[in-house]
Amino acid sequence: MKKLLSILLAVLMVFALFGCGKKEEAPEGGETADTVKIGVAIYQFDDNFMTLYRNDIQKYFDDLNAKGGTQYEVVIVDGANDAATQTEQVNTFISQGVDGMIVNLVQTSSDALAKAVEDSGIPTVFINREIADYAYGDKTCYVGADARDSGTYQGQIIFDQPDHCDLNGDGVVSYIMIMGDPENSDAQFRTEYSIKYLTDNGVTVNKLFEQTGNWAQAQGQELVATELSKEGDDIEVVFCNNDGMAMGALEAIKAAGRKVGEDIYLVGVDAIPEACDAVKNGDMTGTVLNDDLGQATAACESLLKMLGGEVITNKVNYVPYVMVTKDNVDQYIK
Ligand code: GAL
Repeated sequence: MKKLLSILLAVLMVFALFGCGKKEEAPEGGETADTVKIGVAIYQFDDNFMTLYRNDIQKYFDDLNAKGGTQYEVVIVDGANDAATQTEQVNTFISQGVDGMIVNLVQTSSDALAKAVEDSGIPTVFINREIADYAYGDKTCYVGADARDSGTYQGQIIFDQPDHCDLNGDGVVSYIMIMGDPENSDAQFRTEYSIKYLTDNGVTVNKLFEQTGNWAQAQGQELVATELSKEGDDIEVVFCNNDGMAMGALEAIKAAGRKVGEDIYLVGVDAIPEACDAVKNGDMTGTVLNDDLGQATAACESLLKMLGGEVITNKVNYVPYVMVTKDNVDQYIK
């Protein structure tokens, strides 16, 4: 009996030393709770939309933690738009043995990092940047949005304006296109489908300029300022693949003494708070809701399901976009 007790004691001591089941004190009360480690890799912190998104993820787990019970320790890292940096960060999560990951890839033209994640066997939700035709495994899935729809809505917003935005009445809608990161399917599809909607509906278009502003406000502003000084009144519509760049475009439009809705039109995507304000006061023709909260919630829920042992069958989960104009913008002002 004595021997049995001492063996039991030794086993208990080993468990205590190495942290059996990652137990730790719950925030309130005397009960202990499991701690689940979640690693979140964001392609770049300096991005308007992904900033909203990562704050939503953090809040999702903060809210769960506040309820007591299982505690989630969330570490969010900035890939600084550098694939090598991100690979190192994700490999660190893997070697630290995190329980689950949410990964917003820097590079989608290669599936090497995704494959490394699959091999680790750690449940992981990829978000926002989709690898085309990727076969997700049992412990991975993707949450995003169908970028074709966001482009289509942009085209529809322009189509719905008087004379489809043909301000000078020459029978042609002349536009400039400010693109996001061209490697990114969101940028490719928005560029294509916004114009496709117009041409499919019989509008003749003339592309004056198309270049990448890399999703960034400052680059959007610079490109549009240069084009306004070159092309002047010939520019009838400014398409921006996201609102960050549209906010830059708006600065350039104002500086050039132009007025949205009167002598130029401007559309973006995301419905970030600044853009919703601009739509409300007429500084933007419209935008498209890219539902950061809906996507963050879907991503966190999918991860929790996988952590609970479930296999996600809907491997590519698209959260719908919504067209946002003056008519419905109030709903999206936070
Ligand atoms: C898009 C979003 C952009 C930018 C990009 C990053 O979905 O509209 O603003 O965040 O993702 O990949």
